[in-house]
Amino acid sequence: MPRKSSAKSKEIKILGIETSCDETSVALLQFTINNEQLTIKKHLIATQIPIHARYGGVVPEIAARTHVAEVVSLLEKTVGWSKLTTPLIKGGRGDFDAVAVTQGPGLATALRVGFEAGKTLAWAYGKPLVPVNHLEGHMASAWLVPANRRNWKFPILFLLVSGGHTELVLMKDFGDYKVLGRTRDDAAGECFDKTAKLLGLPYPGGPHLSKLAVNGNPKAFDLPRPMINDPSLDFSFSGLKTAVRQLLERTTYNVQRTTSENKRGTKYVVRGKVIDDLCASIQAAIVDVLVSKTIKAALKVNPTAVAVVGGVSANPMLKSELKKALRKACPKVKFLAPAKGLYTDNGAMIAAAGLWNLMQNKKLPAWRNLDAEPDLDL
Ligand code: KG4
Ligand code: ZN
Repeated sequence: MPRKSSAKSKEIKILGIETSCDETSVALLQFTINNEQLTIKKHLIATQIPIHARYGGVVPEIAARTHVAEVVSLLEKTVGWSKLTTPLIKGGRGDFDAVAVTQGPGLATALRVGFEAGKTLAWAYGKPLVPVNHLEGHMASAWLVPANRRNWKFPILFLLVSGGHTELVLMKDFGDYKVLGRTRDDAAGECFDKTAKLLGLPYPGGPHLSKLAVNGNPKAFDLPRPMINDPSLDFSFSGLKTAVRQLLERTTYNVQRTTSENKRGTKYVVRGKVIDDLCASIQAAIVDVLVSKTIKAALKVNPTAVAVVGGVSANPMLKSELKKALRKACPKVKFLAPAKGLYTDNGAMIAAAGLWNLMQNKKLPAWRNLDAEPDLDL
């Protein structure tokens, strides 16, 4: 890791930039190397959710254009306008040591906006550009919690659940990952969003569905738990979405069907308590599968801790059920999760994963040889 020369300041300041989907985010982290103290100096997130909600999902072109408008504004608020422009005018050095930026996976045009911003800063200030895998960023979101850092002993098993990914990953060391299982079709977050859309809930459906589920009966509807008994550690969620659609076609009580889709892209209008029961039943089916497979993986690989990360880790039922199951099946294994507000996409997790990259002391490629990679794998 690059170190400042004075003994007092064995610290590094790293900027993190995230634009892979529908959140523009910039963070400035300060890490003191000798005592591993980490401070989030600045962290700004500009969500595009209200913009995309009008269309019932993310529109990539609009996402990219909105990132263009937001990223400079957030950088300016994070670093300060005069500091941002100084290098071009006077050859200033900037108040950070490295720039971490999401390289992929994500939407091609959206990723490129943040990546080009990162490259520009690296060029203008003469700082290293650290390309970050978005999935590694989600994993690092748990490391941002001081108590989790104290329990950070390898190997750690991750349940990574987001809108685009559902993976069980074993972290053997910083930068050393083994994917134990992944979804064969839809991601868990995608399943939350698509079933919520069928019920007429706004985009993104996950948080709305989980709120309504609180008042519903999770046993009201008998929904499938796809692949729960399959010996592999893989997942499949597309069948669950189909089962919900078929259920809505069959249910007559308080479910009204229309011949064409309404403006939220659904042809069902669900009324009364039945919507709470449907939400609770869908959530229970998704959570059951995620918990069961994670415990199966934990018993197989014997980690020191299990971490749940990614947007779906915001789901209170997932966290409480996983914690409970873990306590029962592997009582010595610690349970880790990100802090509130850092479950979904953010710049702080990208800066943290940038630190992980620097900690490995690997030679970084020059910024001019790097580009966004929409299909990047772990
Ligand atoms: O990690 P993230 O911000 O973006 C991706 O990398 O995909 O995750 C977004 C996903 C969405 O599918 C959203 O519905 C889901 O996280 N999500 C939730 C909850 N909060 C966010 N799913 C279930 N329950 C929640 N409370
Ligand atoms: Zn994400």
